[in-house]
Amino acid sequence: MKPQDLVLPTVAALNPYEPGKPLEELQRELGIGDPIKLASNENPLGPAPLAVAAMRAALADVNRYPDGANWAVREKLAARHRVAADRVFMAGGSVEVLNLLAFLFLRPGLNAVFSEHSFAIYALATAAAGGAGRAVAMRDGFYFDLDAIAAAIDADTRLVFLDNPTNPAGTIFKRAAWERLLARLPEHVVIVADEAYFEFVRDPGYPDSLDYHDGRRMIVTMRTFSKIFGLAGVRVGYAVASPEMVQLLNKVRQPFNVTSIGQAAVLGGLDDHDHVRRTLAVNAAGIAYLEGEFRRMGVAYVPSHANFILAEVGDGRAVYERMLRMGVIVRPMGGYGWPRHLRISVGLEAENRRLVEALAAALAA
Ligand SMILES: Cc1ncc(COP(=O)(O)O)c(C=O)c1O
Repeated sequence: MKPQDLVLPTVAALNPYEPGKPLEELQRELGIGDPIKLASNENPLGPAPLAVAAMRAALADVNRYPDGANWAVREKLAARHRVAADRVFMAGGSVEVLNLLAFLFLRPGLNAVFSEHSFAIYALATAAAGGAGRAVAMRDGFYFDLDAIAAAIDADTRLVFLDNPTNPAGTIFKRAAWERLLARLPEHVVIVADEAYFEFVRDPGYPDSLDYHDGRRMIVTMRTFSKIFGLAGVRVGYAVASPEMVQLLNKVRQPFNVTSIGQAAVLGGLDDHDHVRRTLAVNAAGIAYLEGEFRRMGVAYVPSHANFILAEVGDGRAVYERMLRMGVIVRPMGGYGWPRHLRISVGLEAENRRLVEALAAALAA
């Protein structure tokens, strides 16, 4: 007997999530002294300074277990979103919420619906729980088709995962399409609005899913501290849902799922409005610069609402490898079904310039 013979076939067939290449790995493998990483949609400015200060102060107490109820952070987030604290669920990164939802609501015979080319964890979490994933084709290549998503829901659907903005295309769906989907949503379906890049969106038509928690439908809104607050390494995310949904999530999470350092980071980071402002300014300037350069170079791209941009470069894997050797890490998109594309995270001004130079050289090679 082998261990893989003892698990669900959907689990045995899984390929683990492939993250962006870490900087240290590139330094080790290719001996490149000053690589830059624009591969994981991180905050190029670094962590929010107020979060760093709070984490430093919290270090002295790490002999103690964290507050398993995440009380202070839930209170603070509840006040920010004007909801009761029993509607906030804290997690070790928002990815944990996805896994717990799949664990709770899926099993063999049931399915989850999501968009093709969406965040890879939806398919992974679904398969890990033994559910079937239904990936619905995008419209015009890169845009959500929420009507087709509604049509793909059946009696065995329990979850609909929607990343808005979507990773890696960077596009959004608008209020009218979202409201049409909600109107068609059967009672037995939980809709997961994964808003990891919420703060970056400036389009007035962008729906805030928190406005739609009216008690009639099962909506889970997910947000993260990994992006705008620059705390990806600390692993903190959260969900806002009904008290009943939060209770279910609490039953299946591990007891101390957010570290004391993570909780301190949230308490400090949420007050760091200056860091948020600077991050948005750097991102907007970076997107404008990259889009301008791509146009100049004749590189097709998808206009982005987030902190990354999808660009069509031909043989994505080959261009990625060439850029790696120049010390620039981006993300090839073959695994997402787009072998001709790279996903490029917005960096600091100098990093964006170096990215453009490396891309131009890699395309000319
Ligand atoms: C759409 C989407 N959701 C969730 C996450 C995960 O965020 P976290 O770091 O909170 O687990 C990401 C990270 O890249 C993402 O792109």
